[in-house]
Amino acid sequence: MKEIELKKVTKIYSPNIMALEEVSLTIEQGEFVFLTGQSGCGKTTLLKLLSAQLMPTSGEVWARGHCTSELTHYQVPFYRRLFGIMQTDMGLLKEQTVRQNLEFAMYATEQPVDLTKRRVEQTLRTVGIPSKAGHYPHELSGGEAARALLARALVTSPKILVLDEPTANLDSSASWDLMCLVDEINRMGLTVIVASHDRELVTIMKKRVITFVDGKLVGDSKRGVYDIGLDDASMARDMVLGRKRRKWFGKK
Ligand SMILES: Nc1ncnc2c1ncn2[C@@H]1O[C@H](COP(=O)(O)OP(=O)(O)O)[C@@H](O)[C@H]1O
Ligand SMILES: [Mg+2]
Repeated sequence: MKEIELKKVTKIYSPNIMALEEVSLTIEQGEFVFLTGQSGCGKTTLLKLLSAQLMPTSGEVWARGHCTSELTHYQVPFYRRLFGIMQTDMGLLKEQTVRQNLEFAMYATEQPVDLTKRRVEQTLRTVGIPSKAGHYPHELSGGEAARALLARALVTSPKILVLDEPTANLDSSASWDLMCLVDEINRMGLTVIVASHDRELVTIMKKRVITFVDGKLVGDSKRGVYDIGLDDASMARDMVLGRKRRKWFGKK
């Protein structure tokens, strides 16, 4: 079943910033996909279009049979519950414990109260930090904080997990641990979409990799390595100039 489909999606921020240009792609249920490319290439924009935090300028974004631009104001929060979202501008509430942060996510999505306690404890066990339930965010290590954010994204039982640069603040060992955990969660049946510019991490995970350059989809590889279409004009230009060669192909 098609989990997600983008049909010629263009996103222009005012006045004239082309963040995504005619992007078409399909993601199947249960897939694990990396979106990658340099900073500013449009990864975050794509994730926000998926979860209807943004609307496309043209084209269509579909998830589980719903087209975001056809959702009514009333339907948007329900649509968003399909997604568990971990993004850099959505940190933990600092004055609340880890448990309270998760409980708030349950409350905000109107989940049954009698389910909340069980679900919160279960999710903290899944991400491996049950002993941190009563801790405040400043009492967590970077890796634990990332797991707490992951737990908050998961606690509401989403179908699609969307992670935006989840390893941005982690050292390589904590990054690896987090991504192995995300891999396990994917094996439990969730579709996983991760935006990351961390080339090494993306390569080592050996998942599907969709690559963007300047808002254009230039590669889609099942082999888990960067696959850049050299017919892309801007990439070809930079390749000729030798600017991006080392960056993208240097560490084979
Ligand atoms: N709210 C916004 N208003 C204007 N321009 C934006 C906004 N958000 C992102 N952009 C621009 O859109 C482009 C893509 O940004 P983004 O999706 O954040 O890329 P990435 O996540 O790959 O770094 C960049 O040029 C960025 O500066
Ligand atoms: Mg980003």
